[in-house]
Amino acid sequence: MNKKIKFNTKTVHKGQKPEKLYGAVSLPIYQTSTFKQDKIGDYIYDYSRAGNPTRTNLEENLCSLEGGEDAVSFASGLAAISSIIQLLKSGDHVILTSNVYGGTYRLLTTVMNKFKIESSWVDTSLTSSIKSEIKPNTKLIFIETPTNPMMSLSDISEISKLAKDNNIIVAVDNTFMSPYFQRPLSLGADIVVHSTTKYLNGHSDIIGGAVIVNDKKIGETLHYIQMSIGAVPGPFDCWLTQRSIKTLHLRMPRHDENGRAIADYLNHSKKINKVYYPGLDSHPHHELAKKQQLDPNGNYGFGGMVSIDLGSFEKASKFIDQLNIFALAESLGGVESLICHPAKMTHASLSSEKRKSLGISDGLLRLSIGVEDVDDLISDLDEGLQSI
Ligand SMILES: Cc1ncc(COP(=O)(O)O)c(C=O)c1O
Repeated sequence: MNKKIKFNTKTVHKGQKPEKLYGAVSLPIYQTSTFKQDKIGDYIYDYSRAGNPTRTNLEENLCSLEGGEDAVSFASGLAAISSIIQLLKSGDHVILTSNVYGGTYRLLTTVMNKFKIESSWVDTSLTSSIKSEIKPNTKLIFIETPTNPMMSLSDISEISKLAKDNNIIVAVDNTFMSPYFQRPLSLGADIVVHSTTKYLNGHSDIIGGAVIVNDKKIGETLHYIQMSIGAVPGPFDCWLTQRSIKTLHLRMPRHDENGRAIADYLNHSKKINKVYYPGLDSHPHHELAKKQQLDPNGNYGFGGMVSIDLGSFEKASKFIDQLNIFALAESLGGVESLICHPAKMTHASLSSEKRKSLGISDGLLRLSIGVEDVDDLISDLDEGLQSI
């Protein structure tokens, strides 16, 4: 296929090699654990933990969307993050965004710490705070931007420059933006990670993860880790994710459009203490968002994630009770709007002191704005706000 095709065409075609037997336009799902070998050692695929054509289709597609050299898919976003940490060895040090997804925090502080992977948690929105944390054994800077759920941004280009000067690898969790609105490798990062469960799959029906890299050698090591640890996605999940990616470029602008309208509406309500959305002029990283969150045509976007602080658990809970369209549920990035209470749900693994220091109060709610009619979404939220 012509290498110069544009993003929107890639979502539909990359990795979608024509099916040779019957010419099926929608590729078959190679739902098999093993593959017959004609002669000993004569095969393309031998066993589906090591490789599977449906998985390869997805990995080729993801690789092209992030502009990488290789992509490796996993059974979940956390399996993908864990494989990045497996690139390190005992005694290595990682600097991470203090306000990462709660599961990433749990992985580093309760699992990887047992293997003597040292971690420092800093406000990576200030590149200077990363600089002061660098030590001789620092091997990885892991940033999430925007963060979950506080919507804080880190400057990927600036951090990547600092990391290169110090021979450190940079990994970016790009789950909130998807490659439609942010391509970290093009900004100098070495590794991109996704919970494909979210926008890439976009239909709340699979759990998956992926890592995309700009260095073939790191890619090879990650494939080895993928095969050795075995947290691989099944063929059907790969197929569903690939099927969904074909409409990523149609869904993301709608999430963004609805996200902006809703953030604006919420920002005008006197019942809300604070709205966290990088698209608002008042957001401290609004200018950075305009610089680094760009769609494939170079237009900035802010996505569909909005957090609000209602001031107390009681108000948050009463508000949620009135909602009919927004479902109270974990996860995000699907076509349907969801709402969650980070302190009791996604970030429950953090101590209350840690949550407090990050701003994850008991009145904080995180909204994942779907692709429904925005008037209906606003009237749903309006009913909720009237009740408190
Ligand atoms: C930003 C971010 N990264 C990683 C993960 C983990 O992904 P998964 O749930 O697919 O393991 C999540 C899950 O919510 C997330 O929000």
